[in-house]
Amino acid sequence: MEAYAKNESNVAMKLKYDVVNNDFSRAGEASSKIKEVLKQLAIDPIIVRRVAIATYEAEINLVIHSLGGTIEVYLKSDAIEIYVEDCGPGIENVELAMTKGFSTATSLAREMGFGAGMGLPNMHKVSDAFVIESEPGSGTKVKMVMHY
Ligand SMILES: Nc1ncnc2c1ncn2[C@@H]1O[C@H](COP(=O)(O)OP(=O)(O)OP(=O)(O)O)[C@@H](O)[C@H]1O
Ligand SMILES: [Mg+2]
Repeated sequence: MEAYAKNESNVAMKLKYDVVNNDFSRAGEASSKIKEVLKQLAIDPIIVRRVAIATYEAEINLVIHSLGGTIEVYLKSDAIEIYVEDCGPGIENVELAMTKGFSTATSLAREMGFGAGMGLPNMHKVSDAFVIESEPGSGTKVKMVMHY
């Protein structure tokens, strides 16, 4: 897997949203806003749908598993790039976390309907390129690219 790095070249537009941990009342807000902006820009609906799935799953992971973080979307002429960064606690075993069905979600998160262990596998599935890097104690970074 390539290393996580933001590619700043030829960015036509940047979107950035902060996501607060444990704030279930606002969970899904950032990904909804991203979806609305892309729709208004008349981006191919299939791409919009893939980005919506990826950013929604990323946002929920920030809410239920992280200490909070950011989602950035770079719009380019040939692709959309999504950068998700949080400030901890990081993932012990990334390969295990990427496995379908693996989840450490709390009972509260499960009651809210999360915790199927399908978020990361689905983010991978809808992306043309997917990079995840995590450092226990520091944080997790995910990059996803969707080409037009
Ligand atoms: N940002 C993150 N910070 C820390 N741990 C994470 C983060 N994202 C995912 N994980 C870990 O990876 C596991 C798998 O994540 P994944 O999104 O696939 O499933 P889930 O969030 O548990 O359930 P679902 O997404 O289906 O509601 C999580 O249970 C958690 O242990
Ligand atoms: Mg998840």
